[in-house]
Amino acid sequence: ALNEREVEFNGHIAEGNFVEPADWMPERYRKTLIRQMSQHAHSEVVGMLPEGNWILRAPTLKRKAILIAKVQDEAGHGLYLYSATETLGVDRENLYEDLLAGRAKYSSIFNYPTLNWADVGVIGWLVDGAAIMNQVPLTRCSYGPYARAMVRICKEESFHQRQGFDLLLQMMQGTHEQKEMVQDAVNRWWWPSLMMFGPEDKDSVHSDESKAWGIKRISNDELRQSFVDATVPQAELLGITLPDPDLKWDENTGHYRFGKIDWDEFWRVVSGDGLCNRDRIATKKAAWREGAWVREAAQAYARNLSNNGGK
Ligand code: ACO
Repeated sequence: ALNEREVEFNGHIAEGNFVEPADWMPERYRKTLIRQMSQHAHSEVVGMLPEGNWILRAPTLKRKAILIAKVQDEAGHGLYLYSATETLGVDRENLYEDLLAGRAKYSSIFNYPTLNWADVGVIGWLVDGAAIMNQVPLTRCSYGPYARAMVRICKEESFHQRQGFDLLLQMMQGTHEQKEMVQDAVNRWWWPSLMMFGPEDKDSVHSDESKAWGIKRISNDELRQSFVDATVPQAELLGITLPDPDLKWDENTGHYRFGKIDWDEFWRVVSGDGLCNRDRIATKKAAWREGAWVREAAQAYARNLSNNGGK
């Protein structure tokens, strides 16, 4: 049974109010937010790696500049989210240690390799497209600092999504080989993108509680369906085929039906055994080690500033 404070807390949320850092909150609410927000922050910073792979190989100066800006935005998203998580009384350094030690989760999608240039476009189109679908409802989540961070993140994500689509549209007007590269990238990223929304509702352990607390506004399956419905017409516009023979319009429901997701693959990747899991963590560890001098220099600079009264 809930105690008086919890009843009051649930009422506050049910009325559509935000919870702020200094407010009382149930310990499980705090824990679940730390879990989700830190996983989300880790996803942003690990998400820099698959695309970072192409910065030195981007085909034109324009595409290189766009890609650098996008990867930098993702670092920024990670920083807002680590800061927002710190308002719950945890230290970002500890969260980061958990990531480097392989104890923390981050989105399954970033454990797939980027094999050709079209992958960069497909990540923008499908991966950022799926991220927006999942994140727009989070702008209305009950925890104020998370909701507010998501507003800016979603604006930037929708720009990322469009740049991906634009890149693919251009490639689809190109040579036969370029069109084949796009199709190959779509074939590899389509199913993993659908997995980003998490397990089916019936297997989602946190959904009931997160819904009751207004953290999750729309379920994993509903968001996945909205993503498929929004994406199929875009695939037609591009002129590519989505790799699912069971994908078809259902007059009765007004939705596209789609085939079965390989949940064994999903759980394998989530538990650390995807194509790139080890590589991603090794790269992050090396960056942490090699970046030590930057952190030290930044701290020395900050100390000097405060010793000199900010001048
Ligand atoms: N990749 C890795 N782990 C996942 C994924 C995924 N795609 N989907 C679910 N999981 C994990 C959950 O984190 C949870 O693990 P835990 O208990 O160890 O924390 C477990 O699988 C069970 O899943 P659910 O009960 O459905 O978990 P939850 O209610 O948290 O829903 C979801 C998962 C939808 C991903 C939610 O956490 C969420 O909305 N997170 C914020 C968005 C986000 O993190 N996006 C990152 C990718 S987008 C980007 O960075 C560009």
